[in-house]
Amino acid sequence: MLLYEGKAKQVYSTEKENEYIVYFKDDATAFNGEKKAQISSKGILNNKISTIMFEMLHEKQIKTHFIKSLSERKMLVKKVEILPLEVIVRNITAGSFCKRVGIEEGIVLDEPIFEICYKNDDYGDPMLNDDHAVAMKLANRDELQFLRNETLKINDLMKEFFLKMNLKLVDFKLEFGKDSKGNIILADEISPDTCRLWDVDTNEKLDKDRFRRNLGDLVAGYEEVLARMNNK
Ligand code: TMP
Repeated sequence: MLLYEGKAKQVYSTEKENEYIVYFKDDATAFNGEKKAQISSKGILNNKISTIMFEMLHEKQIKTHFIKSLSERKMLVKKVEILPLEVIVRNITAGSFCKRVGIEEGIVLDEPIFEICYKNDDYGDPMLNDDHAVAMKLANRDELQFLRNETLKINDLMKEFFLKMNLKLVDFKLEFGKDSKGNIILADEISPDTCRLWDVDTNEKLDKDRFRRNLGDLVAGYEEVLARMNNK
């Protein structure tokens, strides 16, 4: 049964109480849904790339919702209740950070920047600080501390992983959920829809900025990311 439909994925229940199926669609949106397109095979690429990322993180003892890939577009996951927070890390300046404060794109940051946003399209996913998140009862202080520590650990692992394939991890967004025991685990997807990835030598953008900013064929970019992952 379809439980939830987002911009890029659908979530279905299964006959098992604690397992869901995530279905990766071909829909691409940007600017809170203002720009839209169907990009043939994007969902297949994101499912494959997310599978590799979740398997890599699992090997490094990070707990995630991933159970296994079921087909080209379907992933079996643990049932979680998604926290209404988008967790962002920036290693290099880009995107909304540049727009908001007028800083140039491409500056390597001395330390990663950790941001949280309220996952709510009606309000354009506004950035929050910890006090806002606690006041809104989106998470408590211990949970926020855990999210920060876990996300920065994941950042180190992902940065190292992508560097091996000559890609710079510029920034990315994660979502976490609570499992049936109340543990917070990594959920959602990790793909070029949710990460900015630039070639180390040329700074060519191989992520969703190709769609957001009309920088070239999106599928060719995602295929290049997947090919590098498979060849490493
Ligand atoms: P931003 O620079 O637009 O804030 O994006 C930061 C990172 O988060 C970037 O890698 C893209 C990702 N992201 C999402 O996955 N979903 C979103 O809705 C937004 C706005 C960004």
